[in-house]
Amino acid sequence: MVVRITGTGSCLPEKRMDNFEIARMVDTTDEWIQSRTGIKARHIAQEETAVFLAVTAANRALEDAGIPAEEIDLIIVSTLSSEQMLPCTACSVQEGIHAKNAAAFDLNAACSGFIVAFQMAVGQMEAGLSKNALIIGVECLSNILNWKDRGTCILFGDGAGAAVISARSGERKPEIPMVLHSDGSRGGVLTCRNLFGKSREENPDGYVAMDGREIYKFAVRKVPEVVEEILEKAGSSAQEIDYFLLHQANRRIIQSIAKHIGQPEEKFPMNMMENGNMSSASIPVLLDEINKEGKLKRGMKLVVAGFGAGLTWGGFYLEW
Ligand code: UT7
Repeated sequence: MVVRITGTGSCLPEKRMDNFEIARMVDTTDEWIQSRTGIKARHIAQEETAVFLAVTAANRALEDAGIPAEEIDLIIVSTLSSEQMLPCTACSVQEGIHAKNAAAFDLNAACSGFIVAFQMAVGQMEAGLSKNALIIGVECLSNILNWKDRGTCILFGDGAGAAVISARSGERKPEIPMVLHSDGSRGGVLTCRNLFGKSREENPDGYVAMDGREIYKFAVRKVPEVVEEILEKAGSSAQEIDYFLLHQANRRIIQSIAKHIGQPEEKFPMNMMENGNMSSASIPVLLDEINKEGKLKRGMKLVVAGFGAGLTWGGFYLEW
């Protein structure tokens, strides 16, 4: 069986909020945000819902893959910030794109969510239960941000990215090298709790709260480790990889990881400058951007890796 990504799509809300606009809400500056994170602007949903963003990204990915929605048999949506809990966002996407033959469910693994969705879809394919899957990362993080907290509200953005994954029978290739890790004992460094039944005023825990320095240290230590693990499983070396697609949390984190791995920054495409950190949407939006820019050629070797709340981290190796 050969598993490939056959189409990508994305959708960002219309409203672009730059750092200067944020600096009118909290005590910060464009200079501070750019120098610490690389972020200049982000998109913020106003009229758009997570379902709308996900459906639009999904339709674009289907068009890119050139397959009708009826051929999709599995839809996995990764989200932690959809406006709806029930029905799950994936079922609303199924309805929105008319994928009547698909099973659909959501998962939440925070910023590693797209990695987990990919691995779950590949697992279903290897079990013979899916041939064409649609995986989506969508976030409306502005729903759960405290716009008075300069430590968090400057970082995040809203958006959706989607990919169609297809399994074709034929020459048996080695399994896709994938790794996944969690450490729940360190969950307290990035939280958003008790959203139900209380107003935000009654419940300050209902906003994203973060120990930024701890997450920074975690990311620069664990991502190079996970990349090594993936390369070993793939029997490949960092030199052979064309692109490392990493979760877009902070430009300094990615630069530090590139240095650890000993590879040039050009191999690490980035989009946090215009999109901020979109949690589980950041990797699929980046993937769609470089795909549409024509940077991905058949046979190119990619390592894709994410990290985030939970704590969770992981990745996979893929030939385009
Ligand atoms: O998807 C995973 C989600 N989270 C992350 O990826 C976060 C990873 N962490 C980071 O990206 C960085 O830790 C941050 C960008 C969040 C913060 O950068 P930092 O260099 O670690 O700054 P810091 O938290 O150590 O704060 C340094 C100073 C503090 O002032 P004092 O105590 O030195 O006087 C902060 O109060 O900067 C202050 N500060 C700000 N100043 C202006 C914190 N936020 C801001 C702000 N504007 N927005």
